[in-house]
Amino acid sequence: MSQSLSGRRVVLIIGGGIAAYKALDLIRRLRERGAAVRPILTKAAQEFVTPLAAAALAGQRAHTDLFDRADEAEIGHIRLAREAHAIVVAPATADLMARMAGGHAPDLASTVLLATTLPILIAPAMNVRMWQHPATQRNLATLTGDGVSVVGPNDGAMAEAEQGPGRMAEPYEIADALEAMLAARDGGSGIGFMAGRTPRGVLAGRSVLVTSGPTHEAIDPVRYLANRSSGRQGHAIAAAAAAAGARVTLISGPVSIPDPAGVSVVRIESAREMLAAVEAALPADIAVFAAAVGDWRPAETRGGKIKKDGSAVPPLTLVENPDILATISARTENRPGLIVGFAAETDDVLDNARRKLAKKGCDLLVANDVSHEGGVMGGAENTVHLLTRDGGLDTWPKLGKEEVGKRLVARFAELVSAVPKS
Ligand code: C5P
Repeated sequence: MSQSLSGRRVVLIIGGGIAAYKALDLIRRLRERGAAVRPILTKAAQEFVTPLAAAALAGQRAHTDLFDRADEAEIGHIRLAREAHAIVVAPATADLMARMAGGHAPDLASTVLLATTLPILIAPAMNVRMWQHPATQRNLATLTGDGVSVVGPNDGAMAEAEQGPGRMAEPYEIADALEAMLAARDGGSGIGFMAGRTPRGVLAGRSVLVTSGPTHEAIDPVRYLANRSSGRQGHAIAAAAAAAGARVTLISGPVSIPDPAGVSVVRIESAREMLAAVEAALPADIAVFAAAVGDWRPAETRGGKIKKDGSAVPPLTLVENPDILATISARTENRPGLIVGFAAETDDVLDNARRKLAKKGCDLLVANDVSHEGGVMGGAENTVHLLTRDGGLDTWPKLGKEEVGKRLVARFAELVSAVPKS
């Protein structure tokens, strides 16, 4: 295990929810990576886990109460809020998020959060309806606008036998997100950290929507049409946008790579599901269409598996899928301020890209060569050309997809700076 958080001091605020038990595992994961962890438990958290368990795993005292005299004399909430490198809130319940967003400080946990200038990472966990409630989403927007980083929640089965977003991110995902947040705020220099919260990212307060990966177009319950997209470029853009402080929704087709840290992920299979998810995620300041959407789907999806019974080979009739990029670019209401399309071309890359930019109606087109020699589809590197509507062209050298993601995000920030926030 790499000591990637070596020397980092982390205040871990444990909120009151069933996911609190995972916060105990998080303490271990953070310590494994070299961090020192000081736990603070809210009153509600103590219904789920004990301060003793948190202290035993952390190897130091767990704090619980604002008016603990010994605490105030020994350490004090202001010092607690200052002496670490970062604060992680896991699980961040709907109530804790509301208190943070509103600046209320009735207990030690929320007082520390209000008194700090440290970078904060929250891992929300709650019932799916509480998560989707406009009040929680408003609080989330306020918090990300304040520069708070977010990891999860994940989609999946929840304690109340319900399904949907609301599950706390896994401890390793939270640890990854913390590393990403610290790295982004260090700016690679390692200085400025102790001076408190470093400058906000270039996309702080902005919302970004990214599509990524392939689509699967069902033929029958076991067969589908797909393509070779790995999702690496789209996911790298989503990760870079989150590291730059944006609130990111990643709408992803089926991929085998992990979710990026600090990003809300919506999983879909078909092009039509992707279009619906994109529309549901609007408004957004920036929309990046990096998915390799299937151009066609079977005209009919059979309810049962098509049998190979020795008779004729079944015909496969295709119909065209909606063009998501063109549909969103043509919107008059809620059109994102900056729309970015991708063009994977095998020949005449620039000519085709120029035509595609006009046809799709987007603002910026990122073109790359996916011919055999280009080796981009599924690969780790990418040579891209950036085309703008006013005829601008930029060609970047061959770069890793992560680096392309970071550079694109920097370019998006420049282009969107003149556009009012959505
Ligand atoms: O036409 P082509 O597939 O080459 O266009 C690529 C661009 O359009 C990409 O940005 C891709 O995400 C987007 N696209 C889309 N919906 C489709 C097809 C492509 O959003 N049905």
